[in-house]
Amino acid sequence: MTAQLNPRGDVAVLVPAAGAGVRLGPGAPKALRLLGGEPLLVHAVRRIAAAPSVHTIVVAAPAAEVDAVRRLLAPVAPVVVVPGGAERQASVAAAPGRRATGGPDIVLVHDAARALTPPELIESVAGAVRAGHHAVIPVLPVVDTIKEVGAGEVVLGTVDRSALRAVQTPQGFRRSVLTAAHAAAGDSLTDDAGLVEKQGVPVFCVPGSEYALKVTRPFDLALAEHLLAVGH
Ligand code: CTP
Ligand code: MG
Repeated sequence: MTAQLNPRGDVAVLVPAAGAGVRLGPGAPKALRLLGGEPLLVHAVRRIAAAPSVHTIVVAAPAAEVDAVRRLLAPVAPVVVVPGGAERQASVAAAPGRRATGGPDIVLVHDAARALTPPELIESVAGAVRAGHHAVIPVLPVVDTIKEVGAGEVVLGTVDRSALRAVQTPQGFRRSVLTAAHAAAGDSLTDDAGLVEKQGVPVFCVPGSEYALKVTRPFDLALAEHLLAVGH
């Protein structure tokens, strides 16, 4: 069940794409919602496949859509499609277990919902893992003032935002680090680096990209439509 892109690539990308997209409103599972006439997942996989380091792509699809996703992606790139789980963490865990050992030693986890992520960001995260960091995340500075709010919507205090970062995907790992973190994971987190942090492994930040925005709410889809229309 091998599906190779660049045989000299040293990176496997796991793509959690099994979510419902509740915050986007009623409709198909989010990865299959259309952006510029094509599903979000097609945009995401096309950009992943354009990154020269990528050797293998594994997509965790909604369980009822595995065959449909295989057909959808066949003309886009060689991809392994597996059924995802009920939570994002389970979808990520479903993917590496299906892969033969001896695969690439660098593993990136990348949300299908970040459909317009530039291939350059994938290369940048992979490059930082290759350079020796065991866990790497792309981040952006936080632009809004952040307040901590308590009961009754009353402000408790203003958080110093200079030390805060908004975290994106792809998140990159040495395979053994990600596997160990998932094996030890108890509670569910929205972020794989969070599992790795709990293992005491240092997580290194690289600059993220505005174009790697996660399509979460209808506004994000409208923004992504605009970005696609102007060439991203
Ligand atoms: N995801 C997944 N399996 C799940 C839940 C989420 O593979 N059980 C994936 C989504 O498909 C998405 C990524 O994880 O690519 C980030 O999740 P999110 O943006 O929260 O997507 P959804 O869970 O689909 O959206 P919502 O939370 O609004 O339902
Ligand atoms: Mg979700």
